[in-house]
Amino acid sequence: MPAESNHLLLQVDQYIEALCSKQDDALLKAIEDSDRAGLPQIHVSPNEGKLLYMLARLSGAKRILEIGLLGGYSAIWLARALPKDGKLISLELEEKHAQVARKNIDRAGLGSKVEIRVGPALDGLKKIAQAKEEPFDLVFIDADKTAYPEYLDWSLKLTRPGSVILADNVIRNGKVVGNAPGDASVEAVRIYNRRVAEDPRLEALLLPLMRESLDGLAIARVK
Ligand code: SAH
Ligand code: DHB
Ligand code: MG
Repeated sequence: MPAESNHLLLQVDQYIEALCSKQDDALLKAIEDSDRAGLPQIHVSPNEGKLLYMLARLSGAKRILEIGLLGGYSAIWLARALPKDGKLISLELEEKHAQVARKNIDRAGLGSKVEIRVGPALDGLKKIAQAKEEPFDLVFIDADKTAYPEYLDWSLKLTRPGSVILADNVIRNGKVVGNAPGDASVEAVRIYNRRVAEDPRLEALLLPLMRESLDGLAIARVK
């Protein structure tokens, strides 16, 4: 992308953020404490957080599943869209990330709505299926990119018609365009994108989003 249009997109992103996605103390402190604890700075942007919130709110989600919690930044946006008796379950591999997130989520006043399950997400997903828990109204996939196709399979098992399945990082600075072989995560995301677009059980759109570089969110609805 030419540097100029990149710059313009960033300015527009900041314009929208200032108008619509202002961060309160709980969100700002969640990022501060995540940084201080040395977590990677790969949380969603404020505008993407607001988009997640809007999609959860618009779909009336009462049960949300997140795959990839990190410091709880996206979880705070999503959990804020839940009704009083709503619940978000978040799957996270790293105990340290879960500990930082727990504090951030409690400080945001969302402790009772958010349940964190530590371990490989594929194990957590299998357990949820075995326990025959109620279907999720919304799933947000944002963990290891190479497992995205498997996370989609599980998401289809754990949702119902009308549920929403979201996935972050599906554009990867444009690396998903074309089919040049590249890194494994780009290839897996490409497979994910083709699957949500072509699976007869889904209708989907990929939405490009600007942050440090161009990335995007896959939005799918279970038919
Ligand atoms: N959704 C977060 C960012 C998630 S970053 C936000 O926007 O705030 C990706 C997270 O997925 C990291 O915390 C990483 O530890 C976790 N992760 C990576 N591989 C995983 C796996 N196999 N199972 C569960 N979590 C995993
Ligand atoms: C990476 C992961 C993410 O979830 C993200 O939003 C950005 C980058 C990464 O692993 O590089
Ligand atoms: Mg991400």
